[in-house]
Amino acid sequence: MITEKQILDVLGKIKEPVLNKDFVTLDFIKRLSLNGNNLQITLGITDVEYNDFPGLKNSILWHFKEAYPELEVSRVDFILGVVNHADKQKDKLMPGVKNTIAVASGKGGVGKSTVAANLAASLALQGAKVGLIDADIYGPSIPLMFGVNERPKVIGSNGKNKLMPVTKYDIKLMSIGFLMEDNTAVVWRGPMASSALKQFMTEVQWENLDYLVFDMPPGTGDIQLTLSQTIPLTGAVIVSTPQDISLADARKGYLMFEKVNVPTLGFIENMSYYMNAEGEKDYIFGQGGGKKLSEEYKTALLGEIPIVTKIREAGDKGKPIVIDSPDSEVSQIYKSIARNLIVEINKKNLLAPQAPEIII
Ligand SMILES: Nc1ncnc2c1ncn2[C@@H]1O[C@H](COP(=O)(O)OP(=O)(O)O)[C@@H](O)[C@H]1O
Ligand SMILES: [Mg+2]
Repeated sequence: MITEKQILDVLGKIKEPVLNKDFVTLDFIKRLSLNGNNLQITLGITDVEYNDFPGLKNSILWHFKEAYPELEVSRVDFILGVVNHADKQKDKLMPGVKNTIAVASGKGGVGKSTVAANLAASLALQGAKVGLIDADIYGPSIPLMFGVNERPKVIGSNGKNKLMPVTKYDIKLMSIGFLMEDNTAVVWRGPMASSALKQFMTEVQWENLDYLVFDMPPGTGDIQLTLSQTIPLTGAVIVSTPQDISLADARKGYLMFEKVNVPTLGFIENMSYYMNAEGEKDYIFGQGGGKKLSEEYKTALLGEIPIVTKIREAGDKGKPIVIDSPDSEVSQIYKSIARNLIVEINKKNLLAPQAPEIII
């Protein structure tokens, strides 16, 4: 009789191809069903669009055949594998949330909220469990971009009331906009805004999430500090347009996060070019700025997003474009950005598997 332990011993010798570490070390055994001599397994993988699944599957079958010729492996499936950002402080504050990502920029109007919404949706399309916090307390965009006009429910949990996030397109959402009457101007002082954001982290029932994305306000102010001081972030994603002024602000953003020990996972260049009527790329704001940033800071350029009318239209009608037209060219770009980000995060978390406990 073959045992589960023996199966794990075999899987402990096979490497996940993107991270080049074995499936057991990665904790990527997602399901294992052993009935007599029949085995069905589901394994985690960093890139769900990996280009050689047949080859990988063959190699797994070969390993089992070598070790246990009598074993019949009738199914090998793959789903997204997410490495936890192991940090005791984060795990205490938000148990079940594996990774926290701030989508930031120095400048307003560069498309952060649009990127955050489509990134969250693209991560969910890859099979991840995703939450999105609208950290732009002064100018929330998520209610409009997701077409949500409902109040979060309040539930009692361990004698404490908690807010339930609102679920739309499989993404768990929280925004100050859900809690305000329509068109109420948000006039509050810095400390109040910071405490609202803190409550979104600690008093919302987030439960199990692979990624919790924060749509940040512009700049390098109070909210940015509150976030990085409240929760150890997995990292930041910095959005810039190609103009020099926006690139200069992106640098400021990078340096601010560096100062508070938040790694930048990558840059995204938004509004990179406009596709003119002849199908040529028109680089109206200049070319190569994002690439230059990424080289300067030895940080990934996660992708370049063109100016497309449909992106704005989709956002305005409450359905991010990757949900509205998943097969469009620009949706493919958002999805590849999400895949690149997943790879960056898994790699980073593997390099620092256990951050030291902070003793105060
Ligand atoms: N790539 C793009 N193509 C066309 N419109 C875009 C693109 N990115 C953002 N927009 C539009 O630009 C405006 C500002 O974007 P937004 O995401 O709200 O920026 P921010 O959050 O940085 O202030 C919105 O109307 C949005 O729909
Ligand atoms: Mg915004």
